[in-house]
Amino acid sequence: MQEASQAFIHLDRLTRNLRLLQDLAGPRPLWPCVKANAYGHGLELIVRHLESLGIDTVCVAHVSEAVLLREVGIGATILVLSAPPPEACETIVAHRLEPVVGSREVLEALSQASAQLAQPVSVHLKVDTGMGRIGLLPQQMPDLVARATALEGIQVRGLMSHFPLADEPESAISQKQIETFERVCAETAEAAIPFRHMANSAAIFDWPESRFDAVRPGIAMYGLRPSPAIATHVLPNLNRFLIGRHGSLFSRRCLLGLGCLMAIRFLRTGHP
Ligand SMILES: Cc1ncc(COP(=O)(O)O)c(C=O)c1O
Repeated sequence: MQEASQAFIHLDRLTRNLRLLQDLAGPRPLWPCVKANAYGHGLELIVRHLESLGIDTVCVAHVSEAVLLREVGIGATILVLSAPPPEACETIVAHRLEPVVGSREVLEALSQASAQLAQPVSVHLKVDTGMGRIGLLPQQMPDLVARATALEGIQVRGLMSHFPLADEPESAISQKQIETFERVCAETAEAAIPFRHMANSAAIFDWPESRFDAVRPGIAMYGLRPSPAIATHVLPNLNRFLIGRHGSLFSRRCLLGLGCLMAIRFLRTGHP
């Protein structure tokens, strides 16, 4: 008879990975990225373990993931990394989520939702320094920050950006992104935004000057090298912790595959 496939999660290895990343981050908080079902490892399991280690903030991609976490009683601060549609703003406020905001339209919708629910909402304003996905252009940021700080119910907790190529050491693009972000921080300094954050795993290793006030590790926390180009003394000590029954290690490609899970179907025993 064929044996069922099994995968084991070794939480002690996650703890070790996190400690290694914290050593690099120094006094700044780690805000782990647990999007896509914690990169296929199981969202609730991983977040509960992170909370037990003292992590007080996690990042997800979508509002629905954050709501799932609230429904199982997770009290941590939850950043929602993708730009929410205006119609998601009530859910965001009601569940005390911290959305990444890259448009005035969403800011206004959040302010309205905050008034309706009589509850303030903290936001992270995103500047597009080169990723080309979410966020306003650097020259638009001073206006966005001014509007956000003036709006009723909005608390600006973070100013952030993201790298497309941090895993290419010495890339002129990443260097320029950091400089652009620093410029936006300086231009908006009057708003005294508490957290400036930019670094994903690769940037934590490769671009120390991008660590600012908090870092958002994803793939490295799961024990995987962000790219073969990155060589730091820490990498050999990171441990994968999703292990197949017969000891085979899940690869980066496999993890990403798990993260792209499309559906879970419940089928009767004996279904072909
Ligand atoms: C905005 C943002 N920050 C951080 C991360 C974590 O990235 P990585 O897995 O490369 O560490 C992601 C992942 O997609 C992200 O979208």
